[in-house]
Parts: sequence; C-alpha cells; structure tokens
Amino acid sequence: MLYQLSYLPARPTIGRRGPTAERNDTNPAPRVNWPGSGSRYDGQTMTNATKSERAESLARSPDRPLLSVRDLRTHFPVRSGILQRITGWVKAVDGVSFDLSRGETLGLVGESGCGKTTVGRTILKLIPHTSGTVEFEGKNVFTAHGAALKALRRDMQIIFQDPAGSLNPRMRVGAIVGEPLVVHGLVKSRDELRQKTGELLVRCGMPKAAADRYPHEFSGGQRQRIGIARALALEPKFIVCDEPTSALDVSIQAQIINLLTDLQSEFGLSYLFISHDMAVIQHVCRNIAVMYQGKIVEHGEREQILERPQHRYTRSLLSAVPEPDPRTQKRRVIFEGGAM
Ligand SMILES: Nc1ncnc2c1ncn2[C@@H]1O[C@H](COP(=O)(O)OP(=O)(O)OP(=O)(O)O)[C@@H](O)[C@H]1O
Ligand SMILES: [Mg+2]
Repeated sequence: MLYQLSYLPARPTIGRRGPTAERNDTNPAPRVNWPGSGSRYDGQTMTNATKSERAESLARSPDRPLLSVRDLRTHFPVRSGILQRITGWVKAVDGVSFDLSRGETLGLVGESGCGKTTVGRTILKLIPHTSGTVEFEGKNVFTAHGAALKALRRDMQIIFQDPAGSLNPRMRVGAIVGEPLVVHGLVKSRDELRQKTGELLVRCGMPKAAADRYPHEFSGGQRQRIGIARALALEPKFIVCDEPTSALDVSIQAQIINLLTDLQSEFGLSYLFISHDMAVIQHVCRNIAVMYQGKIVEHGEREQILERPQHRYTRSLLSAVPEPDPRTQKRRVIFEGGAM
C-alpha cells in the first residue's frame, strides 16, 4: 500500500500518473493538482552552455553515481566545566553510506535528532566531518580547495527548512537571489543581474517586482520560493532539500513540492530530500533511506520500503502516517529503541 499525502485537503488528486505508477529517473514524481500551483514561467532559465556541458559530462560517465557517500561520520564534541573540556561526543552521523544517481531523488527520513540535517550539511562541507568520504562526480569533496571547491559549491546547493531564517532580512530579494551570481562572477552588468534574478524569481512562481522588496514582506511559501530561486541561481546539479515544506501551511506544501518536481524535470536535478514526514517522502522519492540514531537502518526502492519494511523502526515510522480515511483503523507499531 502506498500512503496518501494525508495532510493535504481531499481536493488535490494525483495527476499525470497514478500514485502506484512505475517511476524512474526520467519519470519523476507525480504532481499534486492544486489551484494556482502551476508555473507562470515559460522562458528558458538554463543556459545552452550549461545544457551541453551536462550532456558531455553524462556521456563521459553514464553509470557513475553523481554523489557517492562512504562511511560518513560527523561527531560533535560535548564540552563542560569552566575550562570547557571535551567530556563526550554526540555521534550525529555515524557511518552513513549511499549513492545518488543523476536526476534521482533520494529521501532521507527519520525522527527528529537522528542526524538528517547533519548528513546534508556535512556532504556540502558546511560543517567539518569526522571521517569518511564524499565524492561528487568522482571528485573528493573534503579534499577540494580553491577553484575546485568553488566549482563544487556551484554544483551543490541547499534549500533550508526555515525560509525566514535562511534569508537575510536586511537584503532585498533581488540581492539575495543574485548574490551567488555576483560571488561567482557570472554576471557582467547590473542589467544582466537584474534580468537573471527576475527570470529566476518568475521561474519559481514569484513576480519580477519581488526583487525590490524585503523577505519579511512575503508569506512563508513565497519566502521558500525565494530560497529555491537562490539555490537555482548557479544552475546546480544537486540540491539538499532539508525539510523544505515542513515549516509551511499545509495548502502551500503541495505547491512547493510541485515546483521542486517541475524544476527537477526541467534541469535534471538530483535531490537529497530530507524529511520526517513519510507521506511527503513517498510522494517525491524513488529511493528511500531510513535513518535512526546517526545510521541508515534501511535503504531501498520506495515500493520495497513502503510495502515490505524490514526494520522495526521503519515499520513504526510507517504506522505513524495518518490515514486520510478516518474510518480506517491502523495498528500503531511502537519502536522502543535499543539494538538496531
Ligand atoms: N553544531 C552542533 N553541535 C553539537 N551537536 C549538534 C550540532 N548540530 C547537531 N547536533 C546534534 O546532532 C544530532 C543530530 O542533529 P540534526 O540536526 O542533524 O538532526 P535532524 O535529524 O536533522 O533533526 P530534525 O528532524 O529535528 O531537524 C542532534 O542530537 C543534535 O543535537
Ligand atoms: Mg534537521
């Protein structure tokens, strides 16, 4: 049985393909039909140079995963006393391994505090790792420096859970979205910057005029669209989506999910989609990794994880997904923790 996006009102229906339709890299997640969730942009956002560069890169290494994570560990020190001596370690990520193909969405699901965000941030080198390796297109992310690191930063982006906290309140939206273009020297003039930021905003369902306003003038969903436009600015290949919908009103969540799946089809993006909501994960991800206490306890195709969960923790997580039909009784599986 596949789970419905039960938090959505009854009105949306799964369009284009049914929820049980076979999915692959060229057959992305179905849209949730929702009034006003369509894209208002019909222009060209990705440059032809980027398209041909991606085609060449794909031809050179068709089978190699885009991202390869091996035995990744990130431990945080626990300090105490006046001298702030290290008295212990929080093993936030403790031996995580997975591969991500081009155009794929891997769902990383697990309870609060199990280490999902730490995995995403460590992969992007936003926080230091303890051990293990991360390779992006065969290049070691942790040993990259200078120009190589700058190139990797261009290809790997993140969308944050809290759109309000992730946008600088003192900067206008145009400056926020255009900042990566300026930092990477990808625009030659103010006019070009204004044109590109306008295109990005429109592609993400915002009016061009939003560029002149400040983040606090927008709703949560609109701010998330601004965050997505910023993440897209450098035409990345891979985006960590860290709970991109969990801070949003239920009616807005479907719009953001649809935007992300549309952008994936258009740009061939790969997502590491982090969430604690199994219903969202099953909707957007072809493969799912279940995380518990810093480790991946189960990893496989969506149908396998949802229909034949092997681990007790996965069964407990699935039993907690609310049923859209209140007449249906589901037996809760309580996972007491302990040995994995
Ligand atoms: N900078 C830090 N210093 C010390 N401990 C940290 C730090 N960042 C995270 N942790 C700890 O690491 C563990 C994993 O945190 P993380 O934010 O990755 O969890 P999560 O799965 O993303 O949770 P949530 O679903 O609530 O976002 C938690 O116990 C957290 O307290
Ligand atoms: Mg988190």
